[in-house]
Amino acid sequence: MKNYNSGIAVFLMLLVLALYTEPASSQKLSIDQRVDSLLKLMTLEEKIGQMNQYSGFEEATGPVTEEADKLEQLRRGMIGSMLNVTGATKTRQAQEVALQSRLRIPLLFGQDIIHGYRTIFPIPLAEAASWNLEAIELSARVAATEASAAGVHWTFAPMVDISRDPRWGRVMEGAGEDPYLGSLVAVARVNGFQGNGFGSPDALMACGKHFAAYGAAIGGRDYNSVDMSLQHLHNDYLKPFKAAVDAGVATMMTAFNDINGIPATANKYILRHLLRDEWNFKGFVVSDWGSVGEMINHGYSADEADAAKAALLGGCDMDMESRCYIKNMKNLVLSGHISESMIDESVRLILRKKFEMGLFDDPYRFCNEEREKQQWDNKEHREIARNIARKSIVLLKNDKSLLPLKENVKTIAMIGPLVKAVGENNGFWSYSWPDDSARIVTQWQGIRNRAGEHVNLLYAKGCEISEPDSSGFKEAVEIAMKADVVIMSIGESANMSGEAKSRSNIQLPGVQEELIKAVYATGKPVIVLINAGRPLVFNWTADHAHAILYTWWLGTEAGNAIADVVFGDYNPSGKLPMTFPRSEGQIPVYYNYFNTGRPPKDENDLNYVSAYIDLPNSPRFPFGYGLSYTSFSISEPELNTTTITAGEELSIRVTVANTGNADGTETIQLYFRDKVGSLVRPVKQLAGFQQVFLKKGESRTLIFTLTEKDLRFYNENLEFKSEPGEFEVFTGNSSDNVKGKTFYLK
Ligand code: NOJ
Repeated sequence: MKNYNSGIAVFLMLLVLALYTEPASSQKLSIDQRVDSLLKLMTLEEKIGQMNQYSGFEEATGPVTEEADKLEQLRRGMIGSMLNVTGATKTRQAQEVALQSRLRIPLLFGQDIIHGYRTIFPIPLAEAASWNLEAIELSARVAATEASAAGVHWTFAPMVDISRDPRWGRVMEGAGEDPYLGSLVAVARVNGFQGNGFGSPDALMACGKHFAAYGAAIGGRDYNSVDMSLQHLHNDYLKPFKAAVDAGVATMMTAFNDINGIPATANKYILRHLLRDEWNFKGFVVSDWGSVGEMINHGYSADEADAAKAALLGGCDMDMESRCYIKNMKNLVLSGHISESMIDESVRLILRKKFEMGLFDDPYRFCNEEREKQQWDNKEHREIARNIARKSIVLLKNDKSLLPLKENVKTIAMIGPLVKAVGENNGFWSYSWPDDSARIVTQWQGIRNRAGEHVNLLYAKGCEISEPDSSGFKEAVEIAMKADVVIMSIGESANMSGEAKSRSNIQLPGVQEELIKAVYATGKPVIVLINAGRPLVFNWTADHAHAILYTWWLGTEAGNAIADVVFGDYNPSGKLPMTFPRSEGQIPVYYNYFNTGRPPKDENDLNYVSAYIDLPNSPRFPFGYGLSYTSFSISEPELNTTTITAGEELSIRVTVANTGNADGTETIQLYFRDKVGSLVRPVKQLAGFQQVFLKKGESRTLIFTLTEKDLRFYNENLEFKSEPGEFEVFTGNSSDNVKGKTFYLK
């Protein structure tokens, strides 16, 4: 009898197993049905296992709290996802172990594919400077193609945190300070990563992070608290997240910070009320690395069990690396603190994504060594990377049209600690590969290749990035004296920005600005390339250098992209996605500020006004700023009407003419100001932009539209509404160079 019963049990289990592992293509069962049938077979421990994510066997991208026998736990179905398992072979091996578990549920492999995998693209902040959404989407597409071929299912990107604080090292990972631009970039990246949708072999699941307001860490100090009104949160910080959700982002990651005293990882308002209920998000939420357990340090949870409970109740489905879920959730359920149906809810969301990704049909479809090899050195990908890299460069200054270099230049001196740097070009959050020195095009190589043999190229390092030693200045000055023109490559090192890389001093590190002074004193024309992961402060250089290109970190093709711009094969078109301060004392400084009751009349006005007595209010370089080798004249905006009502369109015509001596691209930006609001409104807010390529002498008329919907904001009661009254609309090529017209909303 006993044997007979267990025989029936085994038969039933095999039947259900067959149901959920049935290929999706058979269309007999919906994914929901397959998820449900699997869920019915799972023990409570197995369910909790799905909510547990560990870092791989070698690499770690955060502090490992405690070792675990990961292989053993994999075999027991105690791990639902792993991050940092790199390459097709390793993901295959880990998947094989996971499939030894009772229910053979495949693992989901996550990885920080932030700006490329094998081919490294410009850092995200740099790409945002391109203002080119197509190029940004393509960059994410290539990253997904390469990473998915190496076994990755899920990228922890895009980072869509708005930030107004360049001290915060993670500004390099986002799209800068503006909610409108940030939202469009978020959508482009989600679309790029997710490609043709889950289930296609080269689509990665994307992850909107860090939900929410991580970029507003007090003092720009990473992981610090955030204290902000809900109006500010909604009007500025949440918009790119909402845009990512609307674009179908698969997952969201909680932020490390607390928001007004409640850690984001357990923040019901953010994770349940907004994300699930209002925004109708259907994916799952993963914590950040250890952020569940860190609620003990925050002083929000008494112990790990308390933290696990708060996070799950708050709306966090998967625990990355804190181990609080795996260690405590079962007891929390058995003791009645958490209902099993709540666990089911999270597990359902996680399993759903595994089904959608096709992992139950073929758990190995992504870890395919053959496909990985094909993507390994893809020339087309490098071309795409070079193209966006040159579009990301911002020309900040170009006295007497020193750039592009003229054909008659015979000797170029290349000076600075980053001229021959290799790995630095990739910036933070990038993979280093053993053959990097052969693959990354250094700035030296890029210029060398393009300059041709008839140009004599001299080199001196001059100094290190951060060291106080100036003994190399002499050699630098000597070679500068022999040259027609000097190109200096200076800046931060790549690991001075990124996670846990906040700086209180964002000047050029070490003695680099002194080196520029010494070289400048030779009287030779000096072009400065500034490599950095954030806006830096470099006033002396900005005042004196003859030309400045802000090159951020441009990735594998850095040298070629820089050479394209230096020699004029590409006319620079980048625009700053973040305001550059004059000094750290101005931070936060941003273009969409409120006017205050005492705005200064001008920069000299100190008569009881909102100003610094030792510094102008204006930044060093404004949001939206960037020069070209040609010049553009931009007409005043012409409006089709001066009054619109809801449902009507305001149409804004602007004519742009290329009045200079080179073909080039200009980015026309549209801003508006709501003159009187029930909540004070910004002096300007971006509401549109168009890029236009014009041959010299050519002109074009662009048409923008604004409707009542574009004028809405979250009011005192958090209603998203517009308010009738007077508005100004501005167009121009930088937030501080615009022409405006008045219109009314009735
Ligand atoms: C912590 C970072 O904040 C997050 O962005 C990243 O995805 C995880 N570590 C995993 O590396």
